[in-house]
Amino acid sequence: MADVTATPAMVTDKGLDRVIIGDSTKSFIDGVEGVLEYVGIDIDDLARNSTFEECCYLLLFDRLPTSAELQFFESEIRSHYELSDELKEMIKVTPKTASPMHVLRTMVSALAHEDQECNDQSIEAEERKALRILAKSPAIIAGFDRHRRDLPLVDPDRNLNIATNFLMMLNGEMPGEQTARALDVCLILHADHGINASTFAAMVAIGTQSDMYSAVTAAIGTLRGPLHGGANERVMDMLNEIGDLEKVDGFINGRLERKEKVPGFGHRVYKAYDPRAKYLKTFAKTIAEETGNHHLFEMSRKIEEIMEAAVGSKGIHPNVDFFSASSYYSMGLAIDLFTPVFAMARNAGWAAHALERHQDNRLIRPRCNYTGPHAAPYVPIENR
Ligand code: ACO
Repeated sequence: MADVTATPAMVTDKGLDRVIIGDSTKSFIDGVEGVLEYVGIDIDDLARNSTFEECCYLLLFDRLPTSAELQFFESEIRSHYELSDELKEMIKVTPKTASPMHVLRTMVSALAHEDQECNDQSIEAEERKALRILAKSPAIIAGFDRHRRDLPLVDPDRNLNIATNFLMMLNGEMPGEQTARALDVCLILHADHGINASTFAAMVAIGTQSDMYSAVTAAIGTLRGPLHGGANERVMDMLNEIGDLEKVDGFINGRLERKEKVPGFGHRVYKAYDPRAKYLKTFAKTIAEETGNHHLFEMSRKIEEIMEAAVGSKGIHPNVDFFSASSYYSMGLAIDLFTPVFAMARNAGWAAHALERHQDNRLIRPRCNYTGPHAAPYVPIENR
């Protein structure tokens, strides 16, 4: 029996790789040439010259801000840095063994409980919700990490940018300028990337005329998977498991022989070198050297060399997660905070795409090809 809902124009595309779901002005990706632009500006240019806050403005409003606009935007974000006493209490009653990504997902969802505008679906209200999520996520991640280490929560400081403020709340002291800038650059590089899996999840949610909290909650849950944002944690686990430059060869070749994927390599869109990884590679070297973690960079370089020879011709190269792992580790972040920090950055892209969809919406509702039986009898339970 044919699927009566299917029409001849329909295609089956399990990973949706061949489906374009609409227009977007946010980020441009050329997977063949290895190009990434936010609103037309090359990622390398932004990483060298911009700030995370400025990139958030760029992604949300499709242009670079004037200095007065940036100042106003930053002060808006900073005015939402603090968590309410109730939310801090929620963090303190969370089991210390919980995974930070689960905590972030739950807490972002909980932000809706105390937002008076929660049910206001105007574009302006959704924009304000996006800023609140962007502003409060660092306090949630840092707060939970301190709670699980039996340390008191540190209040945010409105004089600091997002990256500096996060490190200050996490460690209870001001970070060095270099480290704060290093994190700022990582946030820029992770801020947006077209319709990746988590952004798509956000768009599916907003497409039902749900709200920004629901959209970002769905996105965080999706980012968590090891085939997406969770890969950076797997990269670090792998580097720790290898432990020694001498053991890299055996480890990587063993994985390849067993047809196991090596985390931090390959990308659904990039078949050329991921332009974010290109910048991060130089960066990972500097920060590893500065923090006495040179061996991590050396192991990463060796893994890249082996992978290039083995699968480079298939278009498998390091992705953004490969060199961000050793960079975050060198900055002193716990491994299970890597993906939450990724989420902190991607809040910008999730919001930008969700708002874009909000203004030109169509319910996202694909179909599947039913392959089960038809006219099957209902067998009473006692006869099964
Ligand atoms: N290690 C070894 N071989 C690989 C890898 C890898 N990491 N990735 C792909 N390949 C091989 C596959 O085995 C396959 O080989 P075959 O043709 O001989 O069967 C070929 O390359 C194509 O791979 P696919 O899985 O079909 O590529 P796809 O586009 O579906 O997958 C993905 C992309 C999921 C990212 C994949 O490369 C992967 O699992 N990588 C490791 C996880 C990872 O790093 N994810 C982060 C992605 S970036 C991000 O989300 C922020």
